[in-house]
Amino acid sequence: MKQRITLRNIGFGLGLMAATALTAVALRAAEPEAAPAAAPAEAAPAAEAPAAPAVDPIVARGEYLAQVGNCISCHTREGGEPFAGGLAFNTPYSFLGQIHSTNITPDAETGIGTWTEEQFIRAMHTGVAADGSHLFPAFPYTAFTLVSDDDVKAIWAYLKTVKPVKAERPSNGMAFAMRFPMMFWNAMFFKEGRYLADEKQSAEWNRGAYLTEGLGHCSACHTPRNIALAEKQDMKYAGTVTPPDRVEEGKARPWTAVNLTQAKSGLGPWSADQIQRYLKSGHNNRAGIFGPMNEVIVNSLQHLTTEDAKAMAVYIKSLPALGESPKQTITEAEKTAGAALYKTHCDECHIGSGRGAFMKAPPVAGSAIVQAEHPASLINVILYGAKVGKGSPLPFGAWEDMPSFQSKMNDDEIATLSNYLRTEWDNLGGRVTAADVAKQR
Ligand code: HEC
Ligand code: HEC
Ligand code: HEC
Repeated sequence: MKQRITLRNIGFGLGLMAATALTAVALRAAEPEAAPAAAPAEAAPAAEAPAAPAVDPIVARGEYLAQVGNCISCHTREGGEPFAGGLAFNTPYSFLGQIHSTNITPDAETGIGTWTEEQFIRAMHTGVAADGSHLFPAFPYTAFTLVSDDDVKAIWAYLKTVKPVKAERPSNGMAFAMRFPMMFWNAMFFKEGRYLADEKQSAEWNRGAYLTEGLGHCSACHTPRNIALAEKQDMKYAGTVTPPDRVEEGKARPWTAVNLTQAKSGLGPWSADQIQRYLKSGHNNRAGIFGPMNEVIVNSLQHLTTEDAKAMAVYIKSLPALGESPKQTITEAEKTAGAALYKTHCDECHIGSGRGAFMKAPPVAGSAIVQAEHPASLINVILYGAKVGKGSPLPFGAWEDMPSFQSKMNDDEIATLSNYLRTEWDNLGGRVTAADVAKQR
């Protein structure tokens, strides 16, 4: 499979090539790893009860911030030690091969044990490694640049307390051997600088913006990218499709990261309280987690303090509507066929009104997954079912798993059902074809 992109000039060509590492979505088959203990064992006097070893408050804050930044999800490979790296990342340009995350344990030879605090701060804020080479933005320094010096220092203090692990990084695809082109990419697309508070907004809103834009790096998956894989600033949080990520054991397909703005086809119908509950527990009465959000919630957002979850929800609820999905019309025959498939396969849990039912299933009417411009996640949910990840907080009343319909419907039927879902109950969303479904199989 040869894909070619015609390049205008060599500078852009190199920039583009380097930039292809940008995407923040990994080909992940790993179950989420448990977070490592924060306190070094020696800190507790041997004779004392092991209940509460003294933890340096800066280290404890650093652990919390590292959770918000979800370092562990990207820096731990399947079956590997926490933070020892080696996880492979795909880009939307498959011919470029994969790039692997690095070992960020304090091991002197293979990790960051010999780095200084200044070198770590520079890496987080500018994407430049200790040896001066440019890192690819698969490491989201484009977001981490907003994080305050104090918070980066706390993360550094915490990382120095995790268990050092000797683990070499697997070799990267050829395209990632050359790092200097990142200079061009950074010049064109990267703006270094700490978060600046918006005086017109509340302290809570600013805290939410700081966490969402910075450590949370939500836009890495939820913002569409240009051809050089830089986030499109005029389409922030409008939703987009991810590179292949896990859909079931041993299989990876693209997903749609939904529109997080106030668009009707995005989070418009969600209250700030519903957003807050989803972030902290992976569940609310509108949606549950199943795809790549499993790791985001299990490894990261469930650890948020209630205040921080609320602040992020307040900020997200304030994002102006962008990228509304188109409205389509279907024929009477298509509607009849779609309604029949819905009755046979979905009605039992999602109910004829499309509103779902307590303890059974979330609504499909007004769902951001159903209405997303790109149908990848909707098709994945129908083909592979929806499974709540191991380690999810699962509050009372949380959704259970949805079964898979892979063998129960063919591509044409799933397309017909999808178009029905995207027109019924005032839902939005463009045409889904049998070819779209085939691509996700
Ligand atoms: C979305 C995935 C992702 C997340 C989240 C992430 N990283 Fe990384 N990180 C990477 C990748 C991939 C690389 C390798 C980049 C390269 O080789 O150019 C990397 C590289 C690094 C490096 C450079 C190490 C070296 O040896 O050059 C540091 C330091 C680092 N990450 C720290 C962190 C910290 C701290 C966090 C959490 C606050 C974090 N990362 C979160 C993917 C991620
Ligand atoms: C046995 C009950 C059951 C059946 C049958 C079922 N679902 Fe689901 N569905 C669920 C549950 C439970 C969830 C939430 C799963 C989670 O959070 O991991 C869900 C989630 C969804 C979502 C995601 C909603 C959102 O916005 O997050 C969509 C879309 C969906 N189902 C569509 C369908 C379609 C289409 C059918 C028929 C082909 C169907 N479901 C059949 C139980 C069911
Ligand atoms: C690794 C990519 C990735 C990152 C990082 C990410 N998301 Fe998502 N998000 C997705 C995908 C894919 C979906 C679709 C459903 C799923 O995976 O459960 C989604 C869905 C959502 C939904 C809607 C769920 C629904 O069923 O309608 C919300 C809300 C959300 N994400 C918020 C966030 C926030 C806030 C952040 C930052 C803290 C974030 N996401 C970071 C990929 C990501």
